[in-house]
Amino acid sequence: MRLVFLGPPGAGKGTIAAKAKEVFSIPHISTGDLFRENIRKETELGLRVKSILASGDLVPDEVTIAMVDQRLREDDAIKGFILDGFPRTIAQADALADMSGLDRVVNFVLDKEAIVRRLSGRRVCKSTGRTYHILYNPPKVDGIDDETGEPLIQRDDDKEEAIRNRLDVYEASTAPLIAYYREKGLLVDIDASPSPDEVLKALVEALG
Ligand code: AP5
Repeated sequence: MRLVFLGPPGAGKGTIAAKAKEVFSIPHISTGDLFRENIRKETELGLRVKSILASGDLVPDEVTIAMVDQRLREDDAIKGFILDGFPRTIAQADALADMSGLDRVVNFVLDKEAIVRRLSGRRVCKSTGRTYHILYNPPKVDGIDDETGEPLIQRDDDKEEAIRNRLDVYEASTAPLIAYYREKGLLVDIDASPSPDEVLKALVEALG
């Protein structure tokens, strides 16, 4: 199954992808996670994109496309994948069409107030990327990762100004992909407002 998860920041794409990858036995490929891993390891790519991610702007298409092209050539992606956060522009979608066919594009639908609530309450473990929410998915011990015991942090781009910018960038550059994929007959809309388990159930039903 070759899937794209589309939707605004904070809609829950990463949370549902972490569950859906087990259901479908395919890798979860998140461009945001790949960039953050490079930033953590201070690679050349990481140093180049660090300030872009912190502001909520998009990394240039050619950089992102090259990274995804390389990742999709790895063995585990041959049987399928969940692409989370890619494509985000029409140019990226055109490039993806040259790299691989797709079975479905899942559009996670969530209103703006819920998006802001989810993003402002999100906390992550820096070394593993595991994601929590202070109200909806709290860790067992306040502020501490359940498995590694490390302190949880707030992503730089989950601060108010960056959230506003990310929502603007989403509307301008990524939302047009909804029509792009609907015209191709690939789009499935999923209501992202219920609990993660309910969203997963709806997704599995929709994908058959
Ligand atoms: P990326 O990491 O992809 O950020 P995003 O798209 O903004 O997505 P998020 O990770 O913020 O949200 P999500 O939908 O995965 O929500 P989550 O599951 O965490 O990208 C970061 C940056 O990298 C970009 O801004 C850009 O700079 C760069 N980048 C990445 N891809 C790029 C590309 N293709 N081109 C150019 N640049 C690119 O959930 C959010 C919170 O809500 C969590 O706290 C979670 O616990 C909670 N939650 C989730 N689901 C539910 C639920 N059902 N009920 C209650 N709470 C929930």
